[in-house]
Amino acid sequence: MNSFDINRVRNDFPILAREVYGNPLVYLDNGATTQKPQSVIDAIIHYYSEINSNVHRGVHHLSQVSTDAMEAARESVRQFINAKHVHEVIFVKGTTEGINLVAQCFGKLKIKKDDEVIISAMEHHSNIVPWQMHCEQVGAKLRVIPMDERGVLDMDAYKNMLNEKTKIVAITYVSNALGTINPVEEIIAAAHQLDVPVLLDAAQAIQHISVDVQALNVDFLVFSGHKMYGPTGIGILYGKESLLNEMPPYQGGGEMIKEVTFEKTTYNDLPFKFEAGTPHIEGIIVLKAAIDYLTEIGLDNIKKYEDDLLDYGTGLLSAVNGLKIIGTAPEKSSVLSFIVDGVHPYDIGVLLDRMGIAVRTGHHCAEPIMNQFEIPGTVRASLALYNNKEDLDKLIAGLDRALGMLR
Ligand code: ALA
Repeated sequence: MNSFDINRVRNDFPILAREVYGNPLVYLDNGATTQKPQSVIDAIIHYYSEINSNVHRGVHHLSQVSTDAMEAARESVRQFINAKHVHEVIFVKGTTEGINLVAQCFGKLKIKKDDEVIISAMEHHSNIVPWQMHCEQVGAKLRVIPMDERGVLDMDAYKNMLNEKTKIVAITYVSNALGTINPVEEIIAAAHQLDVPVLLDAAQAIQHISVDVQALNVDFLVFSGHKMYGPTGIGILYGKESLLNEMPPYQGGGEMIKEVTFEKTTYNDLPFKFEAGTPHIEGIIVLKAAIDYLTEIGLDNIKKYEDDLLDYGTGLLSAVNGLKIIGTAPEKSSVLSFIVDGVHPYDIGVLLDRMGIAVRTGHHCAEPIMNQFEIPGTVRASLALYNNKEDLDKLIAGLDRALGMLR
């Protein structure tokens, strides 16, 4: 698509035509999960109607077809993130599993007693708890880069934190609760000066920003299919070949073995070493349809469109009496988190829901952020490529009505 045609895009998503409590759906919970275009829905039906079969196992026709489709999807992910090798693309359940895999397998290899792991003050629980678990097991230390009241990381503090004990830096690319886009190039370059690898949690970035793992020179990148217009239960771990080769496997069984005897098992090559058991074949194959959809529209077109929408929404919300936007970093993506004086976020969310407006309320699985701002949570409207100004006008009108009832 040369230019971004919002009406055409909206028509691609059948769920946007439905009503909720008699009102047209206004879906602003895209940080939690995105809706699916017709091409993705069709790909699910095609998979089960035409090619369903287990992969890498059978000699029969369907097994070959599904194996080829799965490996074509891996190649499509490789191209999408510009990985050097297709075997650097590992299929996992989602971002959370990808981070747990790295925390356990890289952790076993490299993170020992008194070593340090650096994360940031704006991480999702999925990029806190797996590191905490490993650090507790071995007696390593978790260090946290602070952020200011806008939700911007203190880069001087980060650079001072890096030292010979640092074994990995694990950072979110875009904050799910604040929308901050972190300066990932600078973060990676600083870590690499000390040969420290960097993991990027791209769960909230991959659908909004064009990501090139070779240009970033990032060591690990994780993201989820369902936040990029694809199916749930499928995600990607990208890792540099050399690191993945060094790491021990994650789980045992299935396709991850080369040879098994009761005395000893030898492990398969990448990527299969990390893919034990029957994979989420449908999810993998259908993820390709989501990538094709995003590629056809173009991430640069999407970013430009969503940035304009974010500015529009920020302007509208800033004019609401007693409302405070949480997350005001100069570099932001697609998240409008806010609180309103004297009103609990949950009450706003419930009333908006009755008007057909879907937002998320609460701590957004990022409790330490809420603790820093000393708030119980926020109302979060998170944008996707199919949202339009009308959605945001309806959010403001709905908010006005809700606050009229609650105040
Ligand atoms: N991490 C997802 C969110 O931010 C679920 O809503």
